[in-house]
Amino acid sequence: MKILILGSGGREYSIARAISKEDEKHELFFQPGNGATNNLGTNLNIKDYNELAQFAKDNEIELTIVGPEAPLVDGVVDIFKKEGLTIFGPSKEAAQLEGSKVYMKNFLAKYNIPTARYIETDSIEDAFKFTDSLTAPIVVKADGLCGGKGVIIAQNHDEAKVAISEMLSGKSFGDAGLKVIVEEFLDGYELSMFAVCDGDDYILLPAAQDHKRLLDNDEGPNTGGMGAYAPTPLVDEELYQKVKDRVIVPTLDGMKKENAPFEGVLFIGIMVVNGEPITLEFNVRFGDPECEILMPLMTSSVSDMFLKASTNRLSEIKVEFSKQFAVGVVMASGNYPYSSSTPAEIILDDVKHDEIEKYTHISFAGVSEEDGVLYADGGRVLVCVGLGDSIKEARDRAYLRCGQVHFVGKKIRTDIAYQAL
Ligand code: AMP
Ligand code: GLY
Repeated sequence: MKILILGSGGREYSIARAISKEDEKHELFFQPGNGATNNLGTNLNIKDYNELAQFAKDNEIELTIVGPEAPLVDGVVDIFKKEGLTIFGPSKEAAQLEGSKVYMKNFLAKYNIPTARYIETDSIEDAFKFTDSLTAPIVVKADGLCGGKGVIIAQNHDEAKVAISEMLSGKSFGDAGLKVIVEEFLDGYELSMFAVCDGDDYILLPAAQDHKRLLDNDEGPNTGGMGAYAPTPLVDEELYQKVKDRVIVPTLDGMKKENAPFEGVLFIGIMVVNGEPITLEFNVRFGDPECEILMPLMTSSVSDMFLKASTNRLSEIKVEFSKQFAVGVVMASGNYPYSSSTPAEIILDDVKHDEIEKYTHISFAGVSEEDGVLYADGGRVLVCVGLGDSIKEARDRAYLRCGQVHFVGKKIRTDIAYQAL
């Protein structure tokens, strides 16, 4: 197939890498891709979605896969579908599950999907009143997309009220904060679950755990994610079943009733409280770095799964996963997540050891390339992935690979997968 992938991160690289390994040969295009995806296909520079759809038609692209949320919320799927193209991802309307936290919370409430108690409002008085009814910590969220920064866990009522005031006045997040959610803090352990959906049917992938904080022991500021592993032993069959029955099935049914059938990846952020899965949030795309560890665990065709999901035929296939575990360690640049860093040359040791060669790989993200030299040129630069028969084995291998990657300022967490070890 000729396949176009939208996005530029490690997530998109890992999808492309998995597709490149299939028996069937594919031709890959990236919009815009990164300095390493050009080894897997052709990087494009077509920012306008109508022009991109025209490119897809002219070049007989058979499947487009959308990685990040922004193009989904902007309606790229609707534009491609209007042109008769096959594209994997939710419509603009369905992408509101991520694009608007107010839409998402009201949807959860309407369809009785367990979530934290909340108020959604643009009134500072109402927000303060509800805040006073909660015990600290208190969670304050901006309605719109804020690049993963729109959630404040306030340690006391005053801090919560400052966050509310700054959001509602437009000071902290502009228009994205003109409506806020204030909600109760849930104390439990967090999971990432991913269901690939075709509107009616779904395939649930192995549950993963992300590591959002920058530093070891879950300290420091929130990031896009510093590492992940899957499957996590913190989920048993009973919990998988609860997530299916209480979250995924009612969501797919509900979205049909809303006339916005959900096609694409439903990423469920879950807090498990006393054994019960409570939905923290939905995203409408794969997590990054979760995607980088889930793709190498798939033993059946990745491209076929996306194709069948885009054409309402998921029921025709069986998606299979390896019995192994995967651990991904993010290597970030020096100033991440505060500011950008000067591009630094990446030096990769020659892989000589069989074990490293066979059971590890790198998914490249914030990298650029010039004259065959790779530069660390973004916040999260790459992900070292290790596979193994146990989480420990996979973890040890991922860190072995990390030891072979060098660039000035490189930053990693040393405790990825600690919850499972
Ligand atoms: P979100 O973007 O909604 O996933 O929020 C970002 C992070 O904030 C989540 O991954 C959680 O770690 C944390 N968080 C969000 N909502 C809550 C909540 N109600 N209780 C506890 N932690 C939360
Ligand atoms: N790793 C979390 C996310 O992609 O939102």
